[in-house]
Amino acid sequence: MPEMNSGQGSTRPQMEGRKVDHSAVTMSQLILPHQAGPHRPGDIGYAHGGEIMKLMDTAAGVTAVRHSHRTVVTARVEDMNFFHPIRVGNLVTVKTFCTFVGRSTMAVRVDVIAEDVVREKETHALTAYFMMVALDDKGKPAPVPPLIVSSEKERGLWEDGQKRYRACKGELMAGDEDLRACREEQPSR
Ligand SMILES: CC(C)(COP(=O)(O)OP(=O)(O)OC[C@H]1O[C@@H](n2cnc3c(N)ncnc32)[C@H](O)[C@@H]1OP(=O)(O)O)[C@@H](O)C(=O)NCCC(=O)NCCS
Repeated sequence: MPEMNSGQGSTRPQMEGRKVDHSAVTMSQLILPHQAGPHRPGDIGYAHGGEIMKLMDTAAGVTAVRHSHRTVVTARVEDMNFFHPIRVGNLVTVKTFCTFVGRSTMAVRVDVIAEDVVREKETHALTAYFMMVALDDKGKPAPVPPLIVSSEKERGLWEDGQKRYRACKGELMAGDEDLRACREEQPSR
């Protein structure tokens, strides 16, 4: 039985919910020599981490736009751990989907799979969570539609996302001095 998770904001207007599949994205790219980082001793041809992060950010952004039908920005990235190197010549596939929504935030899970196409060998290179914020026409955070979760897996990920969201709120509210100073320096929109 699908379940409507209406997010955490009390000021959300009535909006039609969207399923997780509605905004899921799969994006593949062959890693080319110009995307390599500085060589490791004795070896050449590993992808520059920033190239992979850009792919991840792009795919997460498309998922967030698909869910919200709005312009979005990346507010935070969690759990970015490169467990396996990705080589030049690998086909990198980035899979993204929404796991949780707050009022204007969307938590997007990003899985990266690297495929050695010649050997037909796939490696799960990393998983991270991108917190995307939807903006209105004036560039202010805008409410997003509820997320409809339809399976045990989606429900589990929602609960995990809710914990992260609350922890993040706590961190922001706690008034970390550097973070507060950084936020106060933002140009007014
Ligand atoms: C993200 C941003 C839009 C938030 O704006 P803001 O004026 O602080 O807005 P608010 O305090 O009302 O927060 C809006 C939402 O963003 C969330 N948020 C704000 N800062 C966040 C952070 N660092 N991490 C996660 N979520 C954050 C809030 O929890 C809130 O969530 P909710 O609406 O779901 O409850 C603003 O900080 C910004 O524009 N940052 C720069 C983003 C950017 O340029 N990214 C590209 C990389 S350079």
